[in-house]
Order: sequence, then structure tokens, then C-alpha cells
Amino acid sequence: MQNYPGLECMVRELTDAECTELVDAPGALAIKASRYVPELALYGQMVNLPELSPALAEVSAATLPEVRAPDMPGRKREQAGAFAAALKPLQKPILDWCSGKGHLSRTLAAQSRESVAGYEWNPRLVADGNRIAAHFGDSVQIRCQDVMAHNLSIPGDIHGVALHACGDLHRQLLRQGASASLPRISLSPCCYHQTSEGCYQTLSKRTVAYGNRLLPDRGDLRLAVRETVTAPARVREQGLELHRWRLGFDGLQRHLRGMDQYITVPPYSPRLIRDGFPAFCRWAAAEKQLRLPEDTDFDRWLAFGVRRCAEVRRYELIRHLFRRPLELWLVLDYAVFLEEQGYSVRLGHFCSRSLTPRNLLLDAVRVCGTQPARHSRP
Ligand SMILES: C[S@@+](CC[C@H](N)C(=O)[O-])C[C@H]1O[C@@H](n2cnc3c(N)ncnc32)[C@H](O)[C@@H]1O
Repeated sequence: MQNYPGLECMVRELTDAECTELVDAPGALAIKASRYVPELALYGQMVNLPELSPALAEVSAATLPEVRAPDMPGRKREQAGAFAAALKPLQKPILDWCSGKGHLSRTLAAQSRESVAGYEWNPRLVADGNRIAAHFGDSVQIRCQDVMAHNLSIPGDIHGVALHACGDLHRQLLRQGASASLPRISLSPCCYHQTSEGCYQTLSKRTVAYGNRLLPDRGDLRLAVRETVTAPARVREQGLELHRWRLGFDGLQRHLRGMDQYITVPPYSPRLIRDGFPAFCRWAAAEKQLRLPEDTDFDRWLAFGVRRCAEVRRYELIRHLFRRPLELWLVLDYAVFLEEQGYSVRLGHFCSRSLTPRNLLLDAVRVCGTQPARHSRP
């Protein structure tokens, strides 16, 4: 920020209302910021992707009706429907990777003549999923399977799909699916930061060959999914209030300890918000074995937290401009990897951002006769 004083000045001068509006409008923010960082004028082009979802009527037709989905949260039902609609026609038996209770499996089964198998490691979800599928007569069989297991074998002639399998789980489908030469692999990735690796390890050779200078660590990867666009307004307001309290307590603890050092405070239940800021400070102080003086001026520290929160939110706006480009960089690495493995790849959105911000779909079809590039990682 020090190198961009004009940009810093611009975000500092935003009103609270403008700040709130821009949190969800990175395109508009990029245009404003491009006065100071001209490259940001390309933001819109950089994050623009094709729409892979068909017409609304086709999406509705592919979505399970509520009566057949009593256990599915409404948003998940619609996401699964949009995902299925974007993949039609379905021509192969399907393997739903990390299927959970099989919401997507059941949605796909209704759109396909072929059977759907699910791999899920949580036995309770497996049992629930199989019970629900049997109840509705769906051609779905969920198997208790750790997809990260070394001895995992994937049947050859299937269409591997994954909706919101986290980090290493979806990368495992990419690697294992490509090495099994699956005819089709379709996934919507999420939680890129959930990985056993310290830094992101690129999958494609071309990304490395073009001089990969980007080595995002877990913190950077988490940035790609830090969005609250689907959270209800009340939940967002509670989150903001807690953020102010945490920063207020942070000022207070630095003052009391005489040390300019941040200390982490564990999660606080939003239900306790009604007890107010002083109760939060007493709880946080107890967690950190810190004694609060009787005469602590809570109003002063709350005002401090409000001021700091306003500053932090403005700086975070700029950080969040990197969110979607970083996500696309990751997903393009996946796409190029699949091309190297002999697939023809479509990349685009399968639903609106308001239904889920994790709305990217990578749909890869194996091109006959191509030999996958050898890949060194297991
Ligand atoms: C975010 S949920 C997505 C579930 C489902 N695809 C959906 O969209 O409803 C991720 C699922 O992966 C499962 N999972 C996590 N680690 C796994 C593993 N190693 N093997 C198999 N399933 C796993 C979790 O139990 C959870 O059901």
C-alpha cells in the first residue's frame, strides 16, 4: 500500500456504505482503483468466463423437486440441479467423488439412464444417503471409501464428478481420474487451502515451464474463498460486530500487557452477542489468563474497535481484489493439467454467484487416441 498512496487515500475516503457495497462488487472496485493501478482496468476481462448453465427451464427440470429432497438444504438442491443441468447429456455411469449424503448423486441419477456410485468416507452419511436413495427408488449406491487411500482403485469407464470437494480431495480426483483415463471428469472446486502441502504445488507442467513465480501458501489460498456473498444480512452484521469487538479487545490487551503484539482469541458464539462487548472482553481475557481492571473503560475500547474495523475493512477491499484472479489462476492450472493429460476442457460458471460463490465448473472430456502426459506426482 505504501507504494500506492493514491489508492490508500481512495479507500480511506470511502464511506461505510460505499465500503459495504464494494465488498461484493470487485469489478466496480477495480475500475475505481485502476486510476492508481492501471493494470486493474483489465480486471473485468481477466475474470470473465463463459456461462455453462443452460436456460432456466432446463435448470429447473434438472433440479430435484422439494418433495423428493426433504433432507436437502434449498441452496444445495439448486446447486446440484444447476451442476447437473450444465453437464447434460450424461452418457456414462457416474462416480460422485466425496458425495456426502448423495444430494448430487440423486440429482444426477434422475437425469441419467446410467447408475450413480458415490465415494464418501463418513459412515453416517453413507448410511443416510443409501437409505434416502432406496426410499426414493434412485439408482444410487454410496460406498464408504476414503478417496485419499493409497490403494484406491477407480473403475475405468465412468464419468467422475465432484461438487465442492475440498482442496486435496478434488485435486486427487484430477490426478487419479486422469491416470485412470476416465472418459470425463467434471468438478466444481472449493476450499483450495485444505491441503497437506505447505505451498500450492502446481499440477500442470506448462505452469511450471512458463516460470511459475506464484507460490501461494495456505493463507493465500484461503483468500480465494473468503466471501460472504451468500450469508444472510443478519449473519453478516453479526460477523462485522464481532470483528469490531475482537479489534477493540486487541487494543485493550495490548494496552494492559504493554506489548504491541496480537494474540489470537478462539471463536466466540454469535449467540453470546446479546451479552454485549464488556462480556466479550471478560470472556476473552479469561481465555488468555489476563486480569481486567475493575475500571476498564469499555466504551473507549469499543470505539477503538469500531475505528480499527473501519480501517481494516478498507484495506481488505484491496486484498479481496486478488480473490477471483487467484482462484482462476488455480483452476486454470487444473485445466491445463487436464489438457496435458489428453482432455478437452470447458471452464465457466454453472450457476450465479449468489447461489454459491464457488460457481466454477471444469468439465473435461477425454479426446480419443491421445496419450496422457506422464505425471511425476502419485
Ligand atoms: C463439502 S462436502 C461436499 C459434499 C457433496 N459433494 C455436496 O456437494 O453435497 C465434502 C464431503 O467430503 C467428504 N470427505 C472428506 N474427506 C474425505 C475423504 N478422504 N474421502 C471421502 N470423502 C471425504 C466429507 O465427509 C463431506 O461429505
